[in-house]
Amino acid sequence: MVMVMSRMHSGIPGFDELVQNGVPRGISCIVAGSSGSGKTTFCTQLLHEGVKKYKEKGLFVTLETTPHKLFEFMKVFKWDLKKMEEKKEVIIITMDPFQMHKLGGSETLASLLYNKVEEYGVRRLVIDSLDVFDLLYKDPFEKRVAVHNLVTKLQETNSNLFMISEVDTSSPEVNLSKLPTSVVDGIVLLYNLRSGNIRQRAIEVLKMRGTAHDKGMHPFKMMPNGIKIYSKEKMFR
Ligand SMILES: Nc1ncnc2c1ncn2[C@@H]1O[C@H](COP(=O)(O)OP(=O)(O)OP(=O)(O)O)[C@@H](O)[C@H]1O
Ligand SMILES: [Mg+2]
Repeated sequence: MVMVMSRMHSGIPGFDELVQNGVPRGISCIVAGSSGSGKTTFCTQLLHEGVKKYKEKGLFVTLETTPHKLFEFMKVFKWDLKKMEEKKEVIIITMDPFQMHKLGGSETLASLLYNKVEEYGVRRLVIDSLDVFDLLYKDPFEKRVAVHNLVTKLQETNSNLFMISEVDTSSPEVNLSKLPTSVVDGIVLLYNLRSGNIRQRAIEVLKMRGTAHDKGMHPFKMMPNGIKIYSKEKMFR
């Protein structure tokens, strides 16, 4: 018998083609890239399109910026997140490292998010970003345990989890050692590569458990209405 896996359609033009028409339901992914590579845009677009196209609710946890700033940034793409928040289509949670420390670490963050997901029927969850964990846990092992706690707790809800992290992608052999790669199901890398005096953006699906996926790097652009991936064009580096 062939198991047909249910898919979450990203709604990002060109992305679903890279992962056999959608991200497997209920899995956790890391979205990593250098500063300004488009991580927040990619994940916000997932939430926005989730509401607009698929009537799926989102949860955005920002550990780095204020909702006000996020609303302002995303207005550039004409995404009215404020309205979505008012209508409880996207739930936004802000927390700084100090508050998170007071909360008592990842286990309580996990239950807090779990409860929100259950309460509102959230299907797509974004954490922007995991990098504050570096402040909370000095030991990489502890950070891995913390992310593991989050991932396993939220897996029970069968929602899709996307966790942002900054990594240096300037050298061809991208160093992922600071990422808890083994505890997540998927890794998506975003690049902003320099060649000569221009920069080109590219995306790569490094791994995605539960599905076959494209193995190449593909160019993408920031359009007035968000990210557009050219899944049929290849990039080489
Ligand atoms: N409307 C737009 N058109 C073209 N490019 C844009 C537009 N809006 C933002 N950008 C580009 O997107 C970049 C920011 O993207 P984003 O905030 O998603 O990146 P990030 O990886 O989350 O960055 P950070 O590491 O700072 O969190 C900006 O530096 C800018 O170059
Ligand atoms: Mg960001």
